[in-house]
Amino acid sequence: MNYRDNIDLNKLPKHIAIIMDGNGRWAKQKGFLRAAGHEEGTTAVRDVVEGCAELGVENLTLYAFSTENWNRPKLEVDTLMRLLVSSLKKEIKTLADNDIKLNSIGNISSLPKKAKRELLDVIEKTASNTRMTLTLALSYGSREEITNCVKQIANKVKSGELSEDTVDESVINEHLYTRNLPDVDLLIRTSGEQRISNFLLWQIAYAELYFTKILWPDYRRENLFEAIYNYQNRERRFGKTSEQLS
Ligand code: FPP
Repeated sequence: MNYRDNIDLNKLPKHIAIIMDGNGRWAKQKGFLRAAGHEEGTTAVRDVVEGCAELGVENLTLYAFSTENWNRPKLEVDTLMRLLVSSLKKEIKTLADNDIKLNSIGNISSLPKKAKRELLDVIEKTASNTRMTLTLALSYGSREEITNCVKQIANKVKSGELSEDTVDESVINEHLYTRNLPDVDLLIRTSGEQRISNFLLWQIAYAELYFTKILWPDYRRENLFEAIYNYQNRERRFGKTSEQLS
């Protein structure tokens, strides 16, 4: 089936988030070092970003590096940071050509200086692009994000800037890294694992979850189109009944 032609462009998910998993297994299957899997993963990143832009998806968020990933062997962490810097340098043109704004979520102050500098530079250079927002989750952990959010709100209540009675879901949204993004509509995880791994726990409250066995380095826009087609053929009830929706 040609999924691309069967996608309803008026009902696209406003926000797609992806847990890019399986780089290590892809490399192992081919007898390569893990780094080769991450390297090939950047080809998948580019294709999926272009696929989203081609359709008109407004927000794409990629889980590129979790707070827990700092515990991997130093060599692997260094490889991922090096790939981040080289991809940012290389892909700034793709972002410009496709009118894509780069954004990041996570504790970027813990990134190596060079990676942080390059990231902030590309964020600044693409700030006025409007077609799509590409968010990289870097040194990101959802529990850390929520903990920060609670601390900020508690401080504001203590100083009188906010009153306890006005703290509602929108106030919480405004204190998360994702403050400028809509809720996630579709969450995709590759490689056959079926877990959330501390990714956007608050923001996926009503997301449709889609799991595929494809390893991230093999993932291409056609696979994404299939996921979007699948999403469009689900009934999203947001707690209501089928009858209420129709
Ligand atoms: C998970 O595979 C993937 C990662 C931890 C990193 C994702 C990074 C990239 C795709 C490359 C760089 C990204 C950008 C945005 C430039 P894994 O290593 O956990 O795979 P495994 O579970 O098979 O071991």
